[in-house]
Amino acid sequence: MKGVILAGGLATRLRPLTFVTNKHLLPVYNKPMIYYSLESMKRAGIKEVLLTTSGDHVGDFASLLKSGEEFDLRLYYAIQKNPKGGIADAISLAEEFSHEDSILVLLGDNIFNYDLKNAVKMFEKKSLGSMVFGVRMPTKSGQYGVIEIDSSGAVVSIEEKPAEPKSNIAQTGIYMYDHKVFEYIKKLTPSGRGELEVTDLNNSYLSQGKLGCEVLDWWVDAGTSYDELLRANNEVAQMVKEGKLA
Ligand code: DAU
Repeated sequence: MKGVILAGGLATRLRPLTFVTNKHLLPVYNKPMIYYSLESMKRAGIKEVLLTTSGDHVGDFASLLKSGEEFDLRLYYAIQKNPKGGIADAISLAEEFSHEDSILVLLGDNIFNYDLKNAVKMFEKKSLGSMVFGVRMPTKSGQYGVIEIDSSGAVVSIEEKPAEPKSNIAQTGIYMYDHKVFEYIKKLTPSGRGELEVTDLNNSYLSQGKLGCEVLDWWVDAGTSYDELLRANNEVAQMVKEGKLA
């Protein structure tokens, strides 16, 4: 399995912090945000990772991360021409890189301490086409994608930032896809906000009965607001001090 980390977008919600800096280079406790995704890839045993970002910031990432030696992996870069093309648009840049392998996609502003190694092995063994990972939130929230599951853990629906969430399970920015992902992306059309949505992509697999789901205990999306960035800093500091996150 190959890795894809998304580090594009405009991060307008974090301005003025992001006027001249890419969001994923902002500090979260003692490291730039992007380090957490790279460390998650390393923990999962992924050896080759493609990082997608905008042309404006790719040089900053290359100066910081070089070829990925520090993370024991080989790092490649791709430029997303339209920084707001959407998550599925950014994933489409990995078509050649993936060489028909399956891919683990991480949104570069998501931080979690779950070890994906077993999930990677399971995914490669089973014939699931895609996996999503959820987290139970304290209350129902339409701030994220929302995953509804039945009593056996099977996915019933996924909705992108719904006005009336059907469950309290937020869709995290961790996804696994087989090589058919690029075919599915080509069939997507832009949403109301003009993006190729990851939720529409995941629903393509759901409608084929090829979508699995796992629920994690702890996760933070550091990129949604100043308060979530602050929460990420505080919770990561706590987890590091308690030895629950490296
Ligand atoms: O973090 C989890 C959430 O991420 C999910 O619950 C949602 O279903 C999913 O749509 C996404 O929502 P966000 O509104 O948080 O997405 P955001 O625009 O913040 O982008 C997420 C990451 O993807 C961020 O690291 C930037 C990157 N990105 C985003 C877009 C739109 C790109 O690299 N290119 C893009 O075109």
